[in-house]
Amino acid sequence: MHPLQCVLQVQRSLGWGPLASVSWLSLRMCRAHSSLSSTTCPSPERQEDGARKDFSSRLATGPTFQHFLKSASAPQEKLSSEVEDPPPYLMMDELLGRERKVYLETYGCQMNVNDTEIAWSILQKSGYLRTSNLQEADVILLVTCSIREKAEQTIWNRLHQLKALKTRRPRSRVPLRIGILGCMAERLKEEILNREKMVDVLAGPDAYRDLPRLLAVAESGQQAANVLLSLDETYADVMPVQTSPSATSAFVSIMRGCDNMCSYCIVPFTRGRERSRPVASILEEVKKLSEQVLQLIHERDNICKQIHLPAQSGSSRVLEAMRRGYSREAYVELVHHIKESIPGVSLSSDFIAGFCGETEEDHVQTVSLLREVQYNMGFLFAYSMRQKTRAYHRLKDDVPEEVKLRRLEELITVFREEATKANQMSVGCTQLVLVEGLSKRSATDLCGRNDGNLKVIFPDAEMEDVSNPGLRVRAQPGDYVLVKITSASSQTLRGHVLCRTTLKDSSANC
Ligand code: 5AD
Repeated sequence: MHPLQCVLQVQRSLGWGPLASVSWLSLRMCRAHSSLSSTTCPSPERQEDGARKDFSSRLATGPTFQHFLKSASAPQEKLSSEVEDPPPYLMMDELLGRERKVYLETYGCQMNVNDTEIAWSILQKSGYLRTSNLQEADVILLVTCSIREKAEQTIWNRLHQLKALKTRRPRSRVPLRIGILGCMAERLKEEILNREKMVDVLAGPDAYRDLPRLLAVAESGQQAANVLLSLDETYADVMPVQTSPSATSAFVSIMRGCDNMCSYCIVPFTRGRERSRPVASILEEVKKLSEQVLQLIHERDNICKQIHLPAQSGSSRVLEAMRRGYSREAYVELVHHIKESIPGVSLSSDFIAGFCGETEEDHVQTVSLLREVQYNMGFLFAYSMRQKTRAYHRLKDDVPEEVKLRRLEELITVFREEATKANQMSVGCTQLVLVEGLSKRSATDLCGRNDGNLKVIFPDAEMEDVSNPGLRVRAQPGDYVLVKITSASSQTLRGHVLCRTTLKDSSANC
């Protein structure tokens, strides 16, 4: 990094708390560039002298307050390229992970979970490998929390344990490097390096892009730190990598930092100024997550292939009046994408007949959407005005009641025709059914759901159990059974049971 860039970062950094860290890093940088002439990295005295001389002229021609506001919201790429430019004293290949194995440990809040994903995304791109086995690790990174004293104590204790790991490490292996990331690095800065000599790397919450460089410095046996806070770092272009493959939830971070300054709270000092992530970057991540969900539904037998996609209307004009945020075309495109991603997916939807201002033409468009998508399940309603809603205040409930009901009837008829057609495709197939219990209509029938979440009714009869050949059983709620489908209506399938099975053993044929 060029010294001018480190000055630039000082300008971008914050006015309180973190300033100490700024000068600390600047000094380190200047020392690193000691071969450069004093004009690019002047001594503090000369700086002061020069500043006095031309202070007024610089004030007149210098940047305005607006300039700083502008640079605070400047696009992300600029900052990232500044940080990602290799410093001249490190060769490009030294910044690469060289397949070193990183072990990441996360403490504290959801922001830290997200920070771990960002840090890992950056390191992965640099050629590091991930390990979940502490003994295997070449680099151990703790993503830390400072929110209460106890949180920090936990990290100190952990560091003591890791110290033992580091000293016991055989000389035949590359030396173990330990890094403190996040809030505790930001709050305590060099105090950590002084107190625990075995810590090699410190990176504050806005310095993760610098991790490859910091680790490269650590490789040479020096301690390395970057605890600069930024006004605009949101890691917008870094796609977080879900760190735990078995995770059942994912966090999408929409902002960083905090400006509230609650009187008890350290967060504004450890995470810096509040800034929002650009909407486009949030949308891109959510889109990626949705794609992953579709892929999972497609891949996994234990997730049923059914998606509820409430359309409400087939007319873009009505959708706009409803403020749904999509057009008919966008909705249809999504339906096609889902059908391609999950062959045989079962779709359901909600529709409202007779919304404010709905014309006969709008209604016809809803009918045509029902035909085009051919839903397997539908929930159709006549519009009823609700107090407090935007429609109540701004729109007119102007479709007469009898017209609403007539349109609703038409929608129901078309939905049923299409669903019957769709469901009849299952006749003759053997389907895997999750048994729910007795049928509501008949005590001699059982009821369950197929992979499309459609009701399947079948006589409660003895059957063979695939896991115990020769054993005759009756299906119980929670059992999986194979059912041969013999008839279909718009709401249910009927058939006869073949055997009790398991998800693994099932050999449903459509
Ligand atoms: N009138 C009629 N149907 C409504 N719904 C929601 N509000 C109303 C209303 N005021 C329907 C929508 C929604 C479902 C849960 O109920 O179709 O998706």
